[in-house]
Amino acid sequence: MSETIQSLLHEERSFEPSAEFKAQANANDPAIYDEAYHNPTKWWEGWANQLDWFEKWHTAMEFDAPNAKWFLGGKLNAAYNCVDRHAEGDRANKPAIIFEGEPGDTKTLTYKEVKDQVSQIANALKSMGVQKGDRVCIYLPMVPELPMTMLACARIGAAHTVVFGGFSADSVRERANDASCKVIVTADGGWRRGNVVQLKKITDEALDMGCPTVESVLVLERTGEATGTVTYKQGRDFKWSETVTTQSTDCPCEPMDAEDLLFILYTSGSTGKPKGITHTTGGYLTGVYATSKLIFDLKEDDIHFCTADCGWITGHSYITYGPMANGATVLIYEGAPDTPDKDRFWRIIEKHRATILYTAPTAIRTFMKWGLEYPGRCDLSSLRLLGSVGEPINPEAWIWYHQNIGMGKCPVVDTWWQTETGAIMISPLPGITSTKPGSATHPFPGVRIKVLDEHGNGVDVAGPGATNTPKGGFLVMDHPWPSMTRGIFNDPERYEKTYWSRFPDSYFAGDGIKLDEDGYLWLLGRVDDIMLVAGHNISTMEVESALVDHPAVAEAAVIGKTHDVKGQAIAAFVILRAGYLPSDALTAEIKAHVGKKIGPVARPDDVYISAELPKTRSGKIMRRLLRDIAEGRALGDVSTLADSSVVASLKDRYEASEG
Ligand code: WT7
Repeated sequence: MSETIQSLLHEERSFEPSAEFKAQANANDPAIYDEAYHNPTKWWEGWANQLDWFEKWHTAMEFDAPNAKWFLGGKLNAAYNCVDRHAEGDRANKPAIIFEGEPGDTKTLTYKEVKDQVSQIANALKSMGVQKGDRVCIYLPMVPELPMTMLACARIGAAHTVVFGGFSADSVRERANDASCKVIVTADGGWRRGNVVQLKKITDEALDMGCPTVESVLVLERTGEATGTVTYKQGRDFKWSETVTTQSTDCPCEPMDAEDLLFILYTSGSTGKPKGITHTTGGYLTGVYATSKLIFDLKEDDIHFCTADCGWITGHSYITYGPMANGATVLIYEGAPDTPDKDRFWRIIEKHRATILYTAPTAIRTFMKWGLEYPGRCDLSSLRLLGSVGEPINPEAWIWYHQNIGMGKCPVVDTWWQTETGAIMISPLPGITSTKPGSATHPFPGVRIKVLDEHGNGVDVAGPGATNTPKGGFLVMDHPWPSMTRGIFNDPERYEKTYWSRFPDSYFAGDGIKLDEDGYLWLLGRVDDIMLVAGHNISTMEVESALVDHPAVAEAAVIGKTHDVKGQAIAAFVILRAGYLPSDALTAEIKAHVGKKIGPVARPDDVYISAELPKTRSGKIMRRLLRDIAEGRALGDVSTLADSSVVASLKDRYEASEG
């Protein structure tokens, strides 16, 4: 990264944890950083010891790159740790899951009730022939039965693969086949913006295309009559009401080896077929348990509201496994944030008195665009901690979130991690870290991060307070951590090639990163998103951050387009805030603003004002598509796009303006 750019993302503001927060925090002693840094294995063993094991491990860790194993010889069960151990004693009648459906229906399930229902689902799966070592595909809306079915699989030692309820028949088929699933668990439908998503119908389409390993389908009746016609195939399809609710509430937890597969979760890269990212039982659970406890500062009376769907890793780690291993109360919501109105999240927080909110920058920027009227209507005083995940959070959004949702009093934790890392890797600890808006701050204790240049030279990132040499480059990890993926399901070669071939014996995350002189880490997005403009490396994210810093800009996406002279030229797609109208003068002003914030080299050549941006269902901007549009190329695969019409209209507009 060039020198000019290194100094650009300089953020002066800093927020210290309040004395009050510090005093009650689960982690408030900075000495843990040093302790974990010098003996990470011992640190992680300390956390593993807080789980319940049927048999203790004999060896803490074995590493032969790219393969790591943790807690060898240990036996445990994830459902036992997330449910059974809380279902007796003080937590038995504590709410485990508070659910709000999109139509407004609510349900609260205690740990005791969750234990009974998980056991019934587990027995139903067994009755359908599912055994230890099998795989089950879960294609459900975001209802309590989703995390409970995950836990039911874990209970009997079957691995789950959750397919997000917004995905297509083709995605279901591809994933169920790659994982050779025996059963698909689905629903008649789920609610989204007042409409029924026809999950069973889509499942039927997937099965019609061919899922040779799938023997049975279990169907939750969620939308009932509103679904319309649902067909059940005799001998293959089973209704929840007839198959689950009739089961015994007794079902033993299968003792699993620490290294036994817990789940597979598919991530769609920008090219090639989805990768089946695997996670095993002992290490994964240790990682999500520890990070939940320290980063979200989970306490007995917290209500943890993570807005992710269990179709993503965030829902796996910070709804189902991490908080529940801690015996916490999780709040889940089925539907869209603007149904029936744009205040839905805030209404939910007010109604259920949520104390922790964990959401994504793309959502935060959408809320900024909608305006203060919506959160302003609701009482958000129950909140005590805010989290962000999914992409770099630009300082403007960070400050907005802190001021308007956290009322200036809630610590903000910007958490960097990946499906592959299983648990959060870089984040503040809310009772220790002074935060800088836009920086994910420091590696979690026990996580070793390196910043390397293209030749593999670089620095080890030490904890807060340590002397660090500022450096920009690639985010790399050369020391294993318990929750790291054990590879791509059935494809060790692809795993090695994708993650372990760039630097010797090291995991390369794919992200660019900068370490500043105070030892703070700044994520710069995927390295594929770094542009080379007239010899300068400029990250799309830096330019986007400067764009949304302009008062007229609500959201921005930046790409590098081929340029004869400069190599790449910067093109920006922006959405205006309410009250601003497109004009040549405004476009010129926005360009000048970026030039002033970052430097003339980063001034976009083109700024296109657009009504929407093409995003994947998980909220990531599809830059490849914007590049295609800006360079006038044919459109590639758009099947994972949230709203494919967006692209068409963007493309039309682009062509018209070029015309
Ligand atoms: C990629 C992983 C991990 C849960 C959600 C996404 C980006 C994620 C941050 C953050 C900057 C972030 C990275 C990463 N990312 N969180 N706090 N700051 N970038 O999981 O789909 O596996 O995506 O998301 O680029 O590599 P995922």
